[in-house]
Amino acid sequence: MDSQPRPQILFSREQIEATVSNLATEINNNYRGKHPILIGVLKGSFVFMADLIRHLDFLLEVEFIRLSSYGRGRSTPGEIKVVQGLRSPIKGRDILIIEDIVDTGHSIAFLMDYLQKKKPASLRLCALTDKPSRRQVPVTIDYLGFTVPNKFIVGYGLDWDEKFRYLPDICFVEVED
Ligand code: PRP
Repeated sequence: MDSQPRPQILFSREQIEATVSNLATEINNNYRGKHPILIGVLKGSFVFMADLIRHLDFLLEVEFIRLSSYGRGRSTPGEIKVVQGLRSPIKGRDILIIEDIVDTGHSIAFLMDYLQKKKPASLRLCALTDKPSRRQVPVTIDYLGFTVPNKFIVGYGLDWDEKFRYLPDICFVEVED
């Protein structure tokens, strides 16, 4: 069997729970009385999205979008495309994007531009993790869970080679770029 990197805990499930709850309080305060669409960016956001929405107490809708993956951790983005689009129109709607990680920023910059062209009433970003040391394009994160070091992050939805998404903690693995 191939040797696999061994994930080490960066943020525990208890820390994640507390952070998700705090983020939800902030989001609840800002979206009270509104009826937004939360758009999860597949695949990495699905665990975070599932936990977050169960703390929210306003009328919300859930959508997912999937971008072509160019491999997180690479420094050159290549072409980013939408490979699974939205099922509902977003014109005039309040939109909150749910991401698992902002790394170079290319994916989210592309997505913000793509969604902005559809003329939503508002467009904000909630990211579970941010790795600012790798940023290549500027990104404004309206709601942020954790700032992470320049390590390969896995668990709680995030993968390494499609593995480790199921881990309940946010971990890192030592891998070669
Ligand atoms: C990850 C993550 C972001 C993107 C961040 O997706 O979900 O969308 O990379 O990287 P960037 O800021 O450098 O663009 P990935 O392509 O790994 O797909 P996945 O969510 O299906 O794991």
